[in-house]
Amino acid sequence: MFGSRIAGMGHYVPDRVVKNDDLSQWMDTTDEWIVQRTGIRERRWVEGDVGAAELAEHASRQALEEAGLSPSDIDMILFATLSPDICFPGSGCLLQARLGIPGVPALDVRNQCSGFLYSLSVADQFIRTGAMKRILVVGAEVHSTGLDLSTRGRDVTVIFGDGAGAAILEQTEGESRILDTELHADGRYAEMLMAEAPASRLNPRLSVEMLEAGRQFPKMDGKAVFKQAVERLPEVIHSVLRRNGVALADVALLVPHQANLRINEMVARQLNFPFEKVYNNIQRYGNTTAASIPIALHEAAGEGRLKKGDYVLLAGFGSGFTWGASLVRW
Ligand code: COA
Repeated sequence: MFGSRIAGMGHYVPDRVVKNDDLSQWMDTTDEWIVQRTGIRERRWVEGDVGAAELAEHASRQALEEAGLSPSDIDMILFATLSPDICFPGSGCLLQARLGIPGVPALDVRNQCSGFLYSLSVADQFIRTGAMKRILVVGAEVHSTGLDLSTRGRDVTVIFGDGAGAAILEQTEGESRILDTELHADGRYAEMLMAEAPASRLNPRLSVEMLEAGRQFPKMDGKAVFKQAVERLPEVIHSVLRRNGVALADVALLVPHQANLRINEMVARQLNFPFEKVYNNIQRYGNTTAASIPIALHEAAGEGRLKKGDYVLLAGFGSGFTWGASLVRW
């Protein structure tokens, strides 16, 4: 039975470091508040006109190199982002042009913090059926150009950072593979974490009044997101383990989405899973949404936290609401 294994990974963050104290030049906030509520100490922001596809190109080229492949070996691109370079076409097409592989299908996935998990699952299905042999899955975000830097937006702005993470999925008949991905969504909560404008359901899509009201900036009901995340994540983790007959005690590493260190601590506590086996790097990058899981997974692998044959769990929750978990045999 065909499956897909991760043949190589890459990640990239911009050079510009924005510390918590740097944010207080624009808004009323403090390092202490941000660290205490979120665990974040700094994040990376792009400088100038840099879009998600550019960050993704860096991460993708690194992933290709790690896999010993060149762009022409790729059969398909899946690009997860909530911050596409332009309204349309998708950033997958822009990345495909940057990689110089015309003709290769490119699909954008718009599932926010669960975008990488959704993409991984889609790629895995294409490979299992034998339709594709190698798929580049990339999550990349440029949040910094779309954040409200005034005090009005401080609850959201302090948590987001820019970055990209990529994985090459390759067909395999071996044991190291993506075992399963369980995905969920609940659109009843769509407006609890959203960036509303420009919007096709508004006519005009964007106006001076809307800009003045800040409707182009992300808005969040932080408490509702927190509450749902700490319920849905343990639930989906238990479920994906159960349906694959794997015990939580046999999981070597949990790599959760990096939304808030407190969420990850609470999830570990609810699972009764040792926090040392939960990988976190939100302290350095903030929440990079679709990029956060692949950046964290690549860093964890680079630090020698994963051995061949280990069970690794990836799990994420975010806007939509969407959530999911992947069980991977490393
Ligand atoms: N700096 C200083 N004060 C801030 C602030 C900031 N950056 N952001 C909000 N505050 C203030 C609020 O104005 C409020 O003040 P008030 O009590 O005078 O009204 C106070 O801090 C508490 O705000 P609240 O929003 O209730 O805080 P919270 O405890 O819910 O923490 C989050 C806010 C955003 C850290 C938290 O809700 C959270 O992490 N939620 C999950 C968010 C998430 O994961 N999003 C991404 C999902 S993918």
